[in-house]
Amino acid sequence: MEITLESPLDMHLHLRDGDMLKLTAPLSADFAGAVIMPNLVPPVTTPQMMVAYAERVQAALGGAAFTPYMTLFFTALDEAALLAAKGTPGFFGFKLYPAGITTNSEGGVANLRDADRTLHLMEEMGIPLLVHGESHGFVMDREQEFLAVYRDLATRFPKLTISMEHITTAAAVRLLDEFPNLCATVTLQHLIITLDDVAGGMLQPHLFCKPIAKRPEDRDALLGAVLGGHPRIMFGSDSAPHPRHRKESCGCAAGVFTAPLALPKLAEIFAAAGAADKLQGFVSGNACRIYGLHPAAKTVVLQDTPMAVPAAYRSYGQTVIPMDAGKQIAWSIK
Ligand code: DOR
Ligand code: ZN
Repeated sequence: MEITLESPLDMHLHLRDGDMLKLTAPLSADFAGAVIMPNLVPPVTTPQMMVAYAERVQAALGGAAFTPYMTLFFTALDEAALLAAKGTPGFFGFKLYPAGITTNSEGGVANLRDADRTLHLMEEMGIPLLVHGESHGFVMDREQEFLAVYRDLATRFPKLTISMEHITTAAAVRLLDEFPNLCATVTLQHLIITLDDVAGGMLQPHLFCKPIAKRPEDRDALLGAVLGGHPRIMFGSDSAPHPRHRKESCGCAAGVFTAPLALPKLAEIFAAAGAADKLQGFVSGNACRIYGLHPAAKTVVLQDTPMAVPAAYRSYGQTVIPMDAGKQIAWSIK
């Protein structure tokens, strides 16, 4: 059996910088393009920084057919700054992090009300807002607690396109029904694992990410929505590489590296559920419709021939361990 995908997109991807970028960019380029996260050190906050980063991404891609849709790290900006961002080639939208909520987010928003004027201008200019939606509460409740913020934003800025990034709960899926201006991304790992896979037995650092994987009923709600072809849920891998020594250490960095296996693993999941016809919408169609994207043509054929996931990816002095390292996936890219 085969599944042919046209211009698959990853709507949430971390590529990092320097030698790590050189390692991860080619490994992430099965897709036609991806929305590139700005949480570098220091974060990508200005159009100049974004253009320079996009050039480093292009150089690391080494000619691969792949469009980076660049984001800026959200800060309160005035109209002139927003116009400058919007007019910068390659700019896609802003990523808002609550201050200190995850990797390199210390410069994020401490008080959302300070962002009102900027959000109002973004709404008028048609600039999307991508949000890491977690509170500072108990780790299992952080996303659910943040839903009140999404509700408030979606109500007060009804024309602003707000993407709830990497949702992990049944409650977040339900919230989509309440507000047409909300959409969401879902990662690969959150369609597969629960907290049990992370911490139910021996601790699995390579499955530790933020938001943390939740309960079986949450995972099943995500799967049900995605396999059912929910029109406002998009694939966003949140593939988030960290050096091996930062994962297998006392103080494990959050992030699961999935980019090189994402499409085969998605094919396996969708085919096993008899929902292969829903994959195109999830990995491209929904995003194109929601954001008005016209990605370059790129055809990816997936086949039900197994692939072995490498035990590690190594180059440029970097070592990264992927999800499912050393395991087999029933599908592969032809
Ligand atoms: O697990 C995560 N890793 N969650 C995030 O929000 C950030 C990401 C990273 O940059 O490593
Ligand atoms: Zn992320």
